[in-house]
Amino acid sequence: MKTIIEPFRIKVVEPVRQTTQEEREAALRRASFNLFQLAAEDVLIDLLTDSGTGAMSQEQWAGVMRGDESYAGSRSFQRFQAKVQEIFGYEHVIPTHQGRAAERILFSIVGGAGKIIPNNTHFDTTRANIEYGGGTARDLVRAEARDPTLELPFKGDVDLARLAELVEADPRRVPIGMVTITNNAGGGQPVSFDNVRGVRAILEAHAIPLYFDACRFAENCWFIKTREPGFAERSVREIARALFALGDGCTMSAKKDGLANIGGFLATNDARLAAEARNILILTEGFPTYGGLAGRDLEAIAQGLDEVLDEDYLRYRAVSTAYLCDHLHAEGVPVLRPAGGHAVYLDAARFLPHVPKAQFPGQALACALYRHAGIRACEIGGVMFGEHAQLELVRLAIPRRVYTQSHIDYVVEAILEVFAARERIGGLRIVEEPPRLRHFTCKFEEL
Ligand code: F0G
Repeated sequence: MKTIIEPFRIKVVEPVRQTTQEEREAALRRASFNLFQLAAEDVLIDLLTDSGTGAMSQEQWAGVMRGDESYAGSRSFQRFQAKVQEIFGYEHVIPTHQGRAAERILFSIVGGAGKIIPNNTHFDTTRANIEYGGGTARDLVRAEARDPTLELPFKGDVDLARLAELVEADPRRVPIGMVTITNNAGGGQPVSFDNVRGVRAILEAHAIPLYFDACRFAENCWFIKTREPGFAERSVREIARALFALGDGCTMSAKKDGLANIGGFLATNDARLAAEARNILILTEGFPTYGGLAGRDLEAIAQGLDEVLDEDYLRYRAVSTAYLCDHLHAEGVPVLRPAGGHAVYLDAARFLPHVPKAQFPGQALACALYRHAGIRACEIGGVMFGEHAQLELVRLAIPRRVYTQSHIDYVVEAILEVFAARERIGGLRIVEEPPRLRHFTCKFEEL
């Protein structure tokens, strides 16, 4: 059979609400053209993020009922810890309420003034946590990643020559190296096994540990299996284990490939770092056997980490994301190629060539999609990254196990209609912004 179906059937439904064009216009103005400020009930198809927005399985919900809410040493923590150790192979497992809490803890230990943390591309919270501590976040993704039209299997790879140059210039300034799998800010593109091996070798020569930002590790390992020579016969689980064995630890947001609605963790083989991390954890997140989560959350994550490695699920996930990307591409809509694992990225710079960068073409396009069809997407460009923006993108993130093919067909149709009328879309200017992570709360005006 050629048709790849959703490998589940629907047991609980949540209604979505249609709105009129006038209602959406009013909602957009109330939100000051910042889609993070919309009420979710005014959104028909919500592609703002794939983070915490997935549907949990019957086994995850059963786990919720089994959650052990003991303050210390709960059974749910033990299950969670054992599952993380089994899949990731790191000894110390520190639960956090989400990924950025793990980042904050990690960088408050290894970061600080004068320190440089290399990565393929730092996600916004990672960069912000490093910079908040006075350190420098350095993006070293391979140059080809900046060309949205180049069809390459591993556009998330680190530029090894630039990494070597950075490390050799002054290894004492580089406390750890990071690799984000998949490279979210660079279009959800995977990193090859071979590249991680190269990163490892460069860092190891100077005894610098390697940490993964593992948010979408299962999707990345699926791409390794299906795209990288020599991996087709290995299971995604084996590939994940081998990949993580090249590193010393990871930060993780369980809201992505944990298939959970909340949660995260820091995992490491470094006992000293783990001890320090637990002390900070107690101060701000909670006791080390729950770290800001309920026992039921730990159960849902332990179960989700297993389910996400199911290869029927991963095949469906990759194929359904590519379906959206390929349909748009076939109709001439500028999209980042190839499709990412969790999202499809519209190339706003080519979609709206008449809107200069300074007028935020990505934000203008995201607003146009909402106005036209009630679809909420997310700008990943000049608003989010300011001067660090490498591309002007609009991300259509696909929540896991939530939308069906007809929802996606609606999205395709809506984008084609917006594309046909693209000349009428104008730019925006920022009229109010906070000092960091401005994209969440800044206000815009239409020009
Ligand atoms: N790292 C990456 C690569 C991410 O994509 C995210 C979150 C985080 C770290 C932080 O995790 O949200 O649990 O604190 N990305 C979401 C997104 C928010 O929409 O891409 P968190």
